[in-house]
Amino acid sequence: MMQAQIDEIRREAEAFKLDDAAALEDFRLRYLSKKGALNGLFEAFRGLYGKEKRTVGPAINQLKNELEQKWDDAKKFLDANSTADNSATRTSRKKGIDEEDLSLPAAPMPRGGLHPISLVRRDVVSFFATLGFTLSEGMEMVDDWHNFGALNFAEDHPAREMQDTFFVQTNPDILLRTHTSSVQVKEMQLGNLPIRTLSPGRVYRNETVSARSHMQFHQIEGLYIDEQVSFGDLRLTLNLFAEHFFGSDAKIRFRPSYFPFTEPSAEMDVSCFLCKQEGCTVCKHTGWVEILGCGMVDPQVLEHCGIDSQRYSGFAFGMGIERLTMLRYQIRDIRHFFENDLQFLRQFSGE
Ligand code: PHE
Repeated sequence: MMQAQIDEIRREAEAFKLDDAAALEDFRLRYLSKKGALNGLFEAFRGLYGKEKRTVGPAINQLKNELEQKWDDAKKFLDANSTADNSATRTSRKKGIDEEDLSLPAAPMPRGGLHPISLVRRDVVSFFATLGFTLSEGMEMVDDWHNFGALNFAEDHPAREMQDTFFVQTNPDILLRTHTSSVQVKEMQLGNLPIRTLSPGRVYRNETVSARSHMQFHQIEGLYIDEQVSFGDLRLTLNLFAEHFFGSDAKIRFRPSYFPFTEPSAEMDVSCFLCKQEGCTVCKHTGWVEILGCGMVDPQVLEHCGIDSQRYSGFAFGMGIERLTMLRYQIRDIRHFFENDLQFLRQFSGE
């Protein structure tokens, strides 16, 4: 008797057309759901005994498998066809500009950013602009006189030796500038006094590339020439710069030094802004970090460039932008600046 019921349900279900989502749901409710025909069969099955129970059990299971299979196949077929439909509409949309969906969000566009060296250069340049310093630039390839001669480097000065300077092979009088002081020579020769100028630029030294030094780097040098410029002016100017760059509680100190083109010459340290002079690896536990070289322009240099050293005096200073940048962002390897590694550079792009 139950077998007849099973056959009846099978016949009916086989004839059921599953050609849309509504029919699919109908089918599920009628046969597969909790209150559906299959569950009805299972309930009736529980009341059976003996031989009939043994034959009907597998028959209901068989029907259950068939119905589930029918439902699954139809669902897969409908799903596949509806995505095919969608993609067809999408392609036709792409083809017709009129049908473009303007409400869609735009594809993200990768933004560029400034190189950390540029960020720091701009910061320094704009600070000195507030003190009236203008910008001057020169060529990276200069003659010996602009890089050395005018700046009092004696003929046998060690900095002229091959290991420090890249000379042009065919003309040893031409070289890649080792500092941007060469730009200042040009400015002094132009002689538009007073001079208050800043010269940022790339410089080259024949050094082994390591975490701490590179054969190319960037400098910013400053030059101020007027009547009665004193070491006090130099101190004040650089003190203001240190406060701007390292924070208002930054202190500075000068250590006597030597440069052929300044007299007296000094190296300037700033109080360690990281450990507040408690002692750390950046200041090597001294509480001070070396920032720049400076001094009063040697009267002889002024004369070389056609400036009356009786009437005029001036100061000059020069610093490495890589060094300032490494301090500001705590970068431990100078080579990062030249490797174009986007993972490194993106950290500065403000994204
Ligand atoms: N030109 C020097 C250097 O490259 C720096 C400097 C500039 C020192 C001006 C004193 C005055 O090391």
